[in-house]
Amino acid sequence: AARRVSGRAAAPIAVRAGRRSLVCEARKVALLGAAGGIGQPLALLLKMNKFVTELALYDIANVVGVAADLSHCNTPVKVTGYTGPEELGACLKGADLIVIPAGVPRKPGMTRDDLFNTNAGIVKALVEAVAKHAPNAVLEIITNPVNSTVPIAVETLKLAGVYDPKKVIGVTSLDIVRANTFVSEAKGLDMKDVDVPVIGGHAGSTILPLLSQTTPPVTFTEAEKKAMTDKIANAGTVVVEAKAGKGSATLSMAYAAARMAESTLLGLNGEPNIYECAFVQSDVVADCPFFASKVLLGPNGVAKVMGLGELDAFEQAAMAAMLPQLKSEIQKGLDFVKSPP
Ligand code: NAD
Ligand code: LMR
Repeated sequence: AARRVSGRAAAPIAVRAGRRSLVCEARKVALLGAAGGIGQPLALLLKMNKFVTELALYDIANVVGVAADLSHCNTPVKVTGYTGPEELGACLKGADLIVIPAGVPRKPGMTRDDLFNTNAGIVKALVEAVAKHAPNAVLEIITNPVNSTVPIAVETLKLAGVYDPKKVIGVTSLDIVRANTFVSEAKGLDMKDVDVPVIGGHAGSTILPLLSQTTPPVTFTEAEKKAMTDKIANAGTVVVEAKAGKGSATLSMAYAAARMAESTLLGLNGEPNIYECAFVQSDVVADCPFFASKVLLGPNGVAKVMGLGELDAFEQAAMAAMLPQLKSEIQKGLDFVKSPP
């Protein structure tokens, strides 16, 4: 089989859903924060995904109507809605994959880290319920700041005695989707052919595209390299500013998360050679316990964290410059659970 790397998945979801899967298992996906800006379009894309059999939607508000609305689409996915903490257990029970976009988004002028005070507690509480009701599910965290919320989820699962490093994934696929789009546009390439790995984390300069590893090979001048790297790292902020107080990226994020979910389900179903970039527990960079890099997805979640390959001088310098921020945001998440404020 052809070795599929992250960028191949830039093809529309419906096209990708036509892939052959070795095993078509019944798969329950739980979506927490399902009535939100990301939650609603992501729920629609999952309702259209042929690898999903049941879609359980949870939110603290407005989810009953979203579930009723979505359930009328004549695809075979069974949709259920759950509101409030007392219904969370039922939503999670039996889930193979849990996706979390619950939490507040940025407004202009804010960094992702400014969301920590609100979103850290939301993620911790939801993951406590995951530990209790679906400890074997693969967990995908979209809620920002991802550099901290993933460590929070991991420490919470460790405290509950159910942590499995293969099962916790920080969703950075939007960075790859953006990198693929911007590089194809800049170089006049077909979108579906372009694959740019993006490593590091998911905030500011911790978002590091490896343009030197672009497929197909592309050349950039030093100035182009810097401009393209900044454009990819700042793309979230551009959307926040354009939405002018009405939130951050939702549609492109739903697209990117649906792609990550589909790749995860393909891996769970035994499809070989499914690769995505994701923020996971990692030892690819010394003294950095979490890192986004290419991972192989398999029947239990993350089957293998891949190495970084060769970085050019520009990428090496960018990596050295961003590591202190990434490490400190990771530590902030770990401390939130280990030594609560
Ligand atoms: P939103 O405000 O539109 O939706 C958030 C939803 O979460 C709301 O429906 C809200 O009711 C729900 N919610 C809040 N607390 C909850 C709880 N305790 N349990 C369940 N649901 C709860 O926001 P959005 O635009 O959908 O963004 C959601 C999060 O995703 C933000 O933190 C945002 O920064 C992040 N985000 C991440 C990426 C990424 O690349 N990882 C991209 C875009 C946005
Ligand atoms: C993004 O990259 O679009 C998200 O992380 C949302 C944000 O705050 O920028």
